[in-house]
Amino acid sequence: MSETQLITVKPAIADHALVTAEQHKAMTAAAAADPAAFWAREAGRVAWMTPPTIIKNTSFTGDVSIRWFEDGILNASVSCLDRHLATRGDQTAILWEGDDPNSDARVTYRDLHGRVCRLANALRDLGVQKGDRVCIYLPMIVEAAVAMLACARVGAIHSIVFGGFSPDSLASRIQDSECTVLITADEGRRGGRAVALKTNADEALATCPSIRAVVVVRNTGREVPMQAGRDHWYEAITAGQPAECAPEPMGAEDPLFILYTSGSTGKPKGVLHTTGGYMVWASYTHELVFDYKPGEVYWCTADVGWVTGHTYIVYGPLANGATTLMFEGVPNYPSVSRFWEVVDKHQVNIFYTAPTAIRALMRDGEAPVQKTSRASLRILGSVGEPINPEAWLWYYRVVGDSRCPIVDTWWQTETGGILISPLPGAVDQKPGSATLPLPGVLPALVDGEGNRLEGATEGNLVILDSWPGQARSVYGDHERFIQTYFSTFPGTYFTGDGARRDEDGYWWITGRVDDVINVSGHRMGTAEIESALVAHPKVAEAAVVGMPHDLKGQGIYCYVTLKTGEEPTEALRKELVAWVRKEIGPIASPDAIQWAPGLPKTRSGKIMRRILRKIAANETGALGDTSTLADPGVVTDLVANRVG
Ligand code: WT7
Repeated sequence: MSETQLITVKPAIADHALVTAEQHKAMTAAAAADPAAFWAREAGRVAWMTPPTIIKNTSFTGDVSIRWFEDGILNASVSCLDRHLATRGDQTAILWEGDDPNSDARVTYRDLHGRVCRLANALRDLGVQKGDRVCIYLPMIVEAAVAMLACARVGAIHSIVFGGFSPDSLASRIQDSECTVLITADEGRRGGRAVALKTNADEALATCPSIRAVVVVRNTGREVPMQAGRDHWYEAITAGQPAECAPEPMGAEDPLFILYTSGSTGKPKGVLHTTGGYMVWASYTHELVFDYKPGEVYWCTADVGWVTGHTYIVYGPLANGATTLMFEGVPNYPSVSRFWEVVDKHQVNIFYTAPTAIRALMRDGEAPVQKTSRASLRILGSVGEPINPEAWLWYYRVVGDSRCPIVDTWWQTETGGILISPLPGAVDQKPGSATLPLPGVLPALVDGEGNRLEGATEGNLVILDSWPGQARSVYGDHERFIQTYFSTFPGTYFTGDGARRDEDGYWWITGRVDDVINVSGHRMGTAEIESALVAHPKVAEAAVVGMPHDLKGQGIYCYVTLKTGEEPTEALRKELVAWVRKEIGPIASPDAIQWAPGLPKTRSGKIMRRILRKIAANETGALGDTSTLADPGVVTDLVANRVG
């Protein structure tokens, strides 16, 4: 099969698609010709207290200033809740499916509004004001969405930390943005196991003096220590609150949330998103990419700890009045049919997941899928990493019974929402390609020197002009924002990804071109893992690279140089794996550790990662020029002792 094979899924949806191929072309042309006019119209998707008159005011040069709808005033929670009460107050907003297949819940728009207002009032009682930072460290329970929207209601900036992160990772995120309140739970549940959230939080808070109050959701009911004066049960502080709460009027450019993500260097960055542009982008992309129609059940399997959960479980679907399914569990518990059983149980129409989940489920064959109906499914989505054509075709044929278009959606924490993806009724798909930019998005390819590349070719992926959902800054460090995204190829936003454009103008994302790796759709900085390793008392030096991995996309390959006198034993290898898991979290488990007596360095001391990546990938026949190394001999040793 040719990799450019076109898959056309017109019969299933083209008759009633929201956007047809002709409309897609017209929108793309209109957005490029007059962005301000185009986005002035799309701004009407959200509920404004004062509609904007200034639409676009953005610059990718100098100090990099990105402002959209800047004189508009709104509150994100009103767009997600209040404005739906008159028309769909009794419709299910959140359809919650527990880790245990016997537990589920339906929360209507009216219920959700009341629950958000009660928590918002309680947060105000705890002294939370507009602009304060509130950290959320919760499992996938309804309270996670309630907490996000309650923060938005009072104008607090939420910073969600994924429940799988370690106490250290939680602490450094709380410290960086000086959060004053933490919202957590006694425990989480995943795949039949408990996650000790409150215990982790207590450990983190030992080094977080900025936290004044902790709100604890009683989730599993396990007894946890409560610190008098600091810790409050969620139930206790919300129970007596009124079910109404005046929304804080927010400028379009007032922050909505911070979300930490990994880069090539240093500690994770607090990516800052603001209110107006982000909400417009969340609504626009959710409706168009998923062809969302009122009444449909939409399920994104991500965790709210990642940006996908922010934009495509909470803000986008709720802004569009959708029924959004929130799943506490994992794809293979209690069985590998779980996803499809949930699809049948709740008659899911739109399903959005990650390639790593598809690849894992492929291993168990077609039978666990085929024993379910899946007749309700209409659209399938993919996100987080490149989807290999084999996984794409399995998803299409086995899961979607060759009926459902697949939207392979390329985007990033920094982009706020999807930038490159087919619109399912408008764009023919090719397995493995994210296809075309959404109307309003201007991708381009540049070579290493920043020269624009035209036609069918491969290069570094940049975006030429701003779109409303774009991140505005790195919290507390605008200089780092400029350096990271706007200095490599001046005048453009640099994504950190490489891409190929084919003869039809379709985009194929080839993966990161920087020192970021993507493990099961989770983004990690190799520098973070290295600093965790060198923090171990027996480690002198470490270099970490990605290696190809069948299930995870990329695995974590570590080269470790021990301090003089330390023995490279199997016990120490296990200890280092456990150490990194404890320092960062289980998602950062090293897949391979190679003892390295020395690392390949240039004479100026720079580690040549290109060589380390090749050895990890077992491409040792093509190491390239090693003559600039201070000691070419180390390479021979590393090749001979490659792990795996
Ligand atoms: C990186 C961003 C997008 C939300 C989840 C991850 C990779 C993401 C795709 C895709 C190829 C993809 C890129 C990107 N990526 N989606 N459809 N095809 N690659 O967000 O943690 O900020 O990671 O994920 O490398 O830069 P994130």
